[in-house]
Amino acid sequence: MNWFKQQLANVVGTEEPEYGPSAIRPVTKQAETKPYSILSKDDLRWKALDHTNVETETFYFFTDDGMTSWVQVIYSNVGGIRTTCQFNSKIFDHEGPGKHQWCSDQLHNFGFDEPQTSFYADSMAMELNEAGDAYTIKSARNEDCIINLTVTRKAPGFQVGNDGTTYFGPDPAEPWGSMRHAFWPRCSVTGTMQTPSKTYEMKGRGMYVYALQGMKPHHLACRWNFVNFQTPTYSAVLMEYTTPQSYGKTVVSVGGIAKDDELVTAGLCEAKHVTSKPETENDWPEPRTVSFEWKDQHDGKTVVGEINGDLPPKSDRIEVLAHLPGFVKSFIQGATGLKPHIFQYSSKDQLTLKVKDGEQEVSEKGQLFCEATFIS
Ligand SMILES: *[C@@H]1O[C@H](CO)[C@@H](O)[C@H](O)[C@H]1NC(C)=O
Repeated sequence: MNWFKQQLANVVGTEEPEYGPSAIRPVTKQAETKPYSILSKDDLRWKALDHTNVETETFYFFTDDGMTSWVQVIYSNVGGIRTTCQFNSKIFDHEGPGKHQWCSDQLHNFGFDEPQTSFYADSMAMELNEAGDAYTIKSARNEDCIINLTVTRKAPGFQVGNDGTTYFGPDPAEPWGSMRHAFWPRCSVTGTMQTPSKTYEMKGRGMYVYALQGMKPHHLACRWNFVNFQTPTYSAVLMEYTTPQSYGKTVVSVGGIAKDDELVTAGLCEAKHVTSKPETENDWPEPRTVSFEWKDQHDGKTVVGEINGDLPPKSDRIEVLAHLPGFVKSFIQGATGLKPHIFQYSSKDQLTLKVKDGEQEVSEKGQLFCEATFIS
């Protein structure tokens, strides 16, 4: 979600009129005829579009000994005028519960290789290998988090429908905005993340999301849910957003479940906050009990996978606009009077994934990382 903040700093847009639900073609429509597509190396190219858009490659990690972290490259173009890149990393509970190591640095002299699948900048590289099944991520951009990681795909990568993309705008022939997601749901990770006080041996699970957001972030979504759940055998990922009223509060919810080296299902999902408890009366309804569902890939009517239960206490709460100029904040706050916030949760062996895998029903506990984002 960090692209949101970055993008927002450059955007003082206007409220959009109400175009209604007919002005959005959710990727879930594509899923009615084609539930998902397996990713090829070509699907993992950076697009580097020449109009306003934000591309991110984000890798989430759980080590076998229970550490949670992620790293991310953001490539963003503002108004077709200026391109900036940022490298972010976060290690959760680095110095005890709630004390996270967060590094965010602008990148210089960035560029791509010829197939446009590897990214380079001063003191930083994120390279996809020849086979298209592993990334190496190296960064000495910030001494507070020196990174040397290899992420290897175990199950196939996928995008929902034909192209993983939701299109915005009343004219289907000429959409004015888009949102694409592509996933590697189950990977292994090796390597190190090194801080001045500790070197983490990164042996464990990884998960990767590519995102391309081709429009202004607050016009695209007012709520987000993201789930990454990894068990010894299964991996379940879910990405859901709700558009603002301008696109009819349409919910786009997609994801998939992998088992070892295969996909069990991919397509439609649903995230519910069953109970919520704001810290104060004038606060966002922070989720406490959740229900995450992965639907069957034929008609999306039956549940193939589910996680139900209480979230752990939040590991972090991030004010999206914290570092923005006041005039941008007041603009964004206008609608609700509340500041956009991201709630993050991470737990090990507290929640259980139930999967209908062929004839059998399997339950496995696992490691959870999830985010609930409230924008407006
Ligand atoms: C990064 O890790 C690889 C393999 O784990 C190792 O061979 C290499 O020397 C490391 N590079 C640095 C700069 O530490």
